[in-house]
Amino acid sequence: MMENNKYMDKPITILGFAGSLRKDSYNKALLRAAMKLIPKSTKLEIFDLEGIPPFNQDLENRMPEKVKEFKAKIKAANAILIATPEHNYSIPGVLKNAIDWASRPPGDNSFEGKPVAIMSASPGTLGGARAQYHLRQVLVSLNMHAINRPEVIVASADEKIDEKGNLADEKTRKKIMQLLENLVDWTKKLERK
Ligand SMILES: Cc1cc2nc3c(=O)[nH]c(=O)nc-3n(C[C@H](O)[C@H](O)[C@H](O)COP(=O)(O)O)c2cc1C
Repeated sequence: MMENNKYMDKPITILGFAGSLRKDSYNKALLRAAMKLIPKSTKLEIFDLEGIPPFNQDLENRMPEKVKEFKAKIKAANAILIATPEHNYSIPGVLKNAIDWASRPPGDNSFEGKPVAIMSASPGTLGGARAQYHLRQVLVSLNMHAINRPEVIVASADEKIDEKGNLADEKTRKKIMQLLENLVDWTKKLERK
């Protein structure tokens, strides 16, 4: 009973970030859409990876301020939501770089044990599917618990996201809503242990 009350009192917080720095990024648009589709009593905060420097192991014991901020936000969140482009059949360097920072120094992996959901968008016909599977492999190294379904793979993103950056495709909106519901359920299950 007490365990259930925990979620009535305290909203679940999700930290979302996109593997793109582009102002008009389709993946940032997916995160903005998620903001509007989030279940009640859940908070989604979006973190911009802009300003995270290239990883340098010499600095991992005196982290750059932006990395410290990123790590603190990850730790404070109950769950993580990643929206990523596909670059050359994999995840963009910007995303891998940010993940690498947050996984360090040894013994201080900010992602440890967290639930995570992923989405991808591309103007191409495969919607970033190949990047999602590379990302899933990285999530294993981080010891994260990834949601398997629904797969939010947004192909032809230029036709589904309008020029103002709004997600205009109802089917995709429904999938994102389902993904978020599953992420919240999954988070509750994991935290109850
Ligand atoms: C270096 C680079 C490599 C790319 N490789 C792929 C790819 O392998 N598959 C794909 O679907 N799109 C690829 N694209 C196109 C991206 O999907 C497209 O730029 C997309 O808009 C990036 O996501 P964003 O809108 O969130 O910034 C690539 C783009 C760049 C800049």
